Amino acid sequence: METIKIGLVGLGTVGSGVLQMVTQNQDKISNITGRQLSVKTIVVHDINKPRQVNTDNIILTDDLNQIINDPEIKIVVEVMGGIHPAKEVITALLNAKKHVVTANKDLIASAGDELAKIAHDNHCDLVYEASVAGGIPILRTIVNSFAADQILEVKGIVNGTTNYILTQMQQKNWSYEQALKEAQKLGFAESDPTNDVAGIDAAYKMIIPSQFSFGTHLTMDDMQVEGIQNLQLADVKQADAFGFTIKLLGIAKRINNGIFADVAPVLVAKDHPLATINNENNAVMVTGIAVGETLFYGPGAGGLPTANSVLSDIVSVTKNIVLGTTGNSFNNYQHENDLIVAKN
Ligand code: NDP
Ligand code: HSE
Repeated sequence: METIKIGLVGLGTVGSGVLQMVTQNQDKISNITGRQLSVKTIVVHDINKPRQVNTDNIILTDDLNQIINDPEIKIVVEVMGGIHPAKEVITALLNAKKHVVTANKDLIASAGDELAKIAHDNHCDLVYEASVAGGIPILRTIVNSFAADQILEVKGIVNGTTNYILTQMQQKNWSYEQALKEAQKLGFAESDPTNDVAGIDAAYKMIIPSQFSFGTHLTMDDMQVEGIQNLQLADVKQADAFGFTIKLLGIAKRINNGIFADVAPVLVAKDHPLATINNENNAVMVTGIAVGETLFYGPGAGGLPTANSVLSDIVSVTKNIVLGTTGNSFNNYQHENDLIVAKN
C-alpha cells in the first residue's frame, strides 16, 4: 500500500497527541483511506528538549526547509500556535504545494480568507476542524449538516481553560490563580494564557463558526470581549448561592438585518444545559430555523481530543489526494451575504 508522509510543525500538547494517534491507529486509517500514513519529519523550536513521545525513526529538526523541500511529504500539520511566524510558515507550506491541517484559531480567525486563497491557488487543502472547541467536530457539522438550514444563533462555551478554572472555583473552592496553574499544567491553556483568561481565545473561536453560519466575516473589533481574569472566588460562590453558575459564553446571532457577537462571563441558571458543562469540556448550541436548538458537547482542550479533530482533517485530506479532488478549504463552502455587523 502506498504511504503518505506527514510533517508536523510543533510537538507540544497537540503535536504529541497527533503523533500518538497516527502511530496507534494505522490500521483503521489505512482501511478507510487506502493509504498508509506516517510522520516523517517534525519541526520544533528546541531540538534538545526532552520529549514525552517516542520520536525514533522521525527527523526532529528546527529547520522548516526539511519539510518544504521534501517532495515525499504531502500533508503538514501546523500545531505551533500564534499568528507569527505561523502565518509565514503556512504560506510557505502552501506555496510548496503541501496540504495543511491546523489547530490555530488565532491565525484562522485573523487571516483565514487570505490563507484559503493561497491554498486554492496552489490546489491544496487547508482545513482546521481542531481550531474551534477542540474535540467537538463542530465545523464540519455546521458546513455539512446545516448546509440548507438558516442558522439564527451559535453560542456556547468554547474555551476549555476558563471553564476548567470556573469549575474548580465553584466545586472545589480553588482560587483563580491555583486553578489557572493547574489548567496550564494539564496542557489546556495557551503557552501564554492571557488570551484564554481575557476571552480573546473564545472570541477568535466564535469568529470562525460565525463566518460559516452567517457568511459574514467578523473581526475582533466587532465584538465586545470580556474575560474572567477579574473574577474572585467570592463572585463564583455568591452566584452559586443564588442558583447560578458563572460560564464564559460566546454568542453570535442574527438580529434584524445584522449579526451581534460577544464573549463575556454570564450567570447561567443551574438547570440550563450549559450550566452542566464542567472542567475543560465545551458545548456549542446551534439554532436553525428548521431544526430548532441543537447542542454539541465534548472536550474542548487537551492533546488526544484535539488530535482526534486533527486526524479527521488528515483523513479527509488523504481521501481528497486519493480521489484527486484537493483544493478544498472550509472557506470554499461559505456563502456571502450582506448582513451588517451590529457593533456594541
Ligand atoms: P504547545 O505550546 O504545547 O506546543 C507548541 C509547539 O510548537 C512546541 O513543540 C514548540 O517547540 C513548537 N514551536 C513553537 N514555536 C516554534 C517555532 N517558531 N518554530 C518551530 N516550532 C515551534 O502548544 P499546543 O500543542 O497546546 O497548541 C498548539 C496549537 O493548537 C495552538 O494553535 C493552540 O491554540 C491549538 N490548540 C491547542 C489545544 C490544547 O488543548 N492545547 C486545543 C485546540 C487547539 P518546542 O517543543 O521545541 O518548544
Ligand atoms: N487554550 C485553549 C482552551 C485550547 O483552553 O480552550 C483549545 O483551543
